[in-house]
Amino acid sequence: MKWLVAALAAVCVLAPSAHCADDTIAWCYHDPTCNDTTWPTIAAPFCNGTRQSPINIDTSAATGNSALGPFTFHNFNSTTAMTKIENTGKTIKVALSNVNVSGGDLSETYQSLQFHLHWGNGSSVPGSEHTVDGKRYPMELHIVNLRASFNGDTSLGIANSTGLAALGFFIEADDATSSASWQSLTSYLDNITLSGQSVAIAPGFSLDDLLTGVDREKYWRYLGSLTTPACNEAVVWTVFKDTVKVPSSLINMFSTKLHIFNTTSSPMMVNVFRNIQPNQAVTTQAASSTSKTCYSLGLLALSLALGRS
Ligand SMILES: *[C@@H]1O[C@H](CO)[C@@H](O)[C@H](O)[C@H]1NC(C)=O
Ligand SMILES: *[C@@H]1O[C@H](CO)[C@@H](O)[C@H](O)[C@H]1NC(C)=O
Ligand SMILES: *[C@@H]1O[C@H](CO)[C@@H](O)[C@H](O)[C@H]1NC(C)=O
Ligand SMILES: *[C@@H]1O[C@H](CO)[C@@H](O)[C@H](O)[C@H]1NC(C)=O
Ligand SMILES: *[C@@H]1O[C@H](CO)[C@@H](O)[C@H](O)[C@H]1NC(C)=O
Ligand SMILES: *[C@@H]1O[C@H](CO)[C@@H](O)[C@H](O)[C@H]1NC(C)=O
Ligand SMILES: *[C@@H]1O[C@H](CO)[C@@H](O)[C@H](O)[C@H]1NC(C)=O
Ligand SMILES: *[C@@H]1O[C@H](CO)[C@@H](O)[C@H](O)[C@H]1NC(C)=O
Ligand SMILES: [Zn+2]
Repeated sequence: MKWLVAALAAVCVLAPSAHCADDTIAWCYHDPTCNDTTWPTIAAPFCNGTRQSPINIDTSAATGNSALGPFTFHNFNSTTAMTKIENTGKTIKVALSNVNVSGGDLSETYQSLQFHLHWGNGSSVPGSEHTVDGKRYPMELHIVNLRASFNGDTSLGIANSTGLAALGFFIEADDATSSASWQSLTSYLDNITLSGQSVAIAPGFSLDDLLTGVDREKYWRYLGSLTTPACNEAVVWTVFKDTVKVPSSLINMFSTKLHIFNTTSSPMMVNVFRNIQPNQAVTTQAASSTSKTCYSLGLLALSLALGRS
């Protein structure tokens, strides 16, 4: 029962500091007695809810919404925004400071608290949380943001149906890419191999650097939940369509260096993702090609009506 004690002491993925509502729930990914199939039971009333994440995104069912405009990413270009990296026993979490996001049909500015990652077992055993038309990607990065008006109080965030805004980015293996920022980020994994360890991140790379290659104006939107207990249904989800390309050698580091407890004999941190939950309505940018087609059909109809052309 050693795992139970460690799980009870586990640091919450959400909270940037010690305060966290769900650190008493003994949930896990690796053991059938506490893995995600048990969460609806061990972490009711939210994990058994009706607005749960992650979901499979059925791209043909996503409806157009012209309100889904561009975001403004404040300080994503800052090379001092990432302050600390930590092994929580469930993921790798990077604390963010002085970063926020607005636009994108969010109702106010959201303060960026942290990002963390989900993965499988190396680049060949994928572990993204969301899937797209059934496809699972090797990894998924989540930036967790809280309504700025809540002034850093995450307990307010998890109690509000749109209290949090999560930005999800798929990570794909591409050995032709040499990513200095991902090289820098993963270089810290050797310093945090055990659960509970953390280390300061030296200035030098930015969120923009880590997210290179993603057109951040193309995304899916739906209302969902945290993907870890207590699975609070408080999250406005944004999942970006483009992927971040990272060399497979770096992806493989996540599943081979990190332990889930604070001993080197504890299991490796692998398959740290929740399985797909029942579908939710997904929206996306109104397709410009469709509106162009409608426009030309409209012109055609107009010219036919006028007896021209
Ligand atoms: C390791 O974790 C156990 C509980 O899981 C705790 O009692 C112990 O203090 C931790 N040791 C270190 C060195 O952090
Ligand atoms: C999770 O637990 C269920 C039984 O509760 C088991 O069937 C399943 O294989 C487990 N999954 C993993 C990844 O351990
Ligand atoms: C989830 O569990 C709680 C507590 O047992 C219960 O009150 C609630 O009705 C359940 N929700 C659903 C959707 O089953
Ligand atoms: C970040 O972007 C802002 C707005 O475009 C700009 O004013 C600022 O100089 C940039 N900072 C860095 C570190 O590049
Ligand atoms: C968002 O971040 C920018 C840049 O750090 C800052 O000027 C602005 O005040 C922040 N907005 C809110 C609502 O926190
Ligand atoms: C992960 O992959 C390694 C190397 O292929 C393998 O030894 C290990 O059993 C795998 N772990 C799980 C939980 O599948
Ligand atoms: C969520 O918080 C916002 C901002 O404080 C507030 O306007 C809204 O009513 C809240 N929604 C719910 C469901 O509590
Ligand atoms: C990380 O560990 C290496 C040795 O493995 C050490 O040289 C380095 O200073 C450590 N980095 C930090 C930021 O503690
Ligand atoms: Zn996550």
